[in-house]
Amino acid sequence: MDRKEFLEKLGLGAAFVLTSSCLGGCTRDEADPPKDINFTIDLEDPKYEELNVFGSYVIEDQVVIARSNTGEYLAATLICSHEGLTQITYSDSQGAWYCTAHEALFSETGEGLNANGSKGLTIFNTELTDNLLRIFS
Ligand code: FES
Repeated sequence: MDRKEFLEKLGLGAAFVLTSSCLGGCTRDEADPPKDINFTIDLEDPKYEELNVFGSYVIEDQVVIARSNTGEYLAATLICSHEGLTQITYSDSQGAWYCTAHEALFSETGEGLNANGSKGLTIFNTELTDNLLRIFS
C-alpha cells in the first residue's frame, strides 16, 4: 500500500495532507525575542481595556501584556522559544504563559513547565505609575 492509498483508507485526502501542518493559521517568526523593550501604554485608552480584567491580555509591539489572575501586570515576548511562532498568550485557567501552537507552558516568571516550554520564555519588567504602564527589558 502506498502513501495515497493509506491516506484514502484513513479517509484523508490530499488537501488535508497539504494543509494539516498549519491549520491554526500559524505564523513563523524566526527572529529572536526583542531584547531592548521600553514603551509605555495608557491604561485609560480603550485599546487596553482588556487589562481591567484579571486573567486577560493584550498584544502590543510583539509583547504580550497580561493582567495576572492576582491582578499583577506581566509582560512577555510574543515569540515562543519552542519553534519561534508568535502565539504566546496568557492562560487564566493555568495562571501561566501558554503557546497555542504546541501547548508550551511557562510560569509567570518564564520558567518552562513542560517539554515544549523547556527553553523558557523572555519576560519583561512592568512599572505602573498612575494609569501609565511601562514595559521594559
Ligand atoms: S511554537 Fe510554541 S509551543 Fe511550539
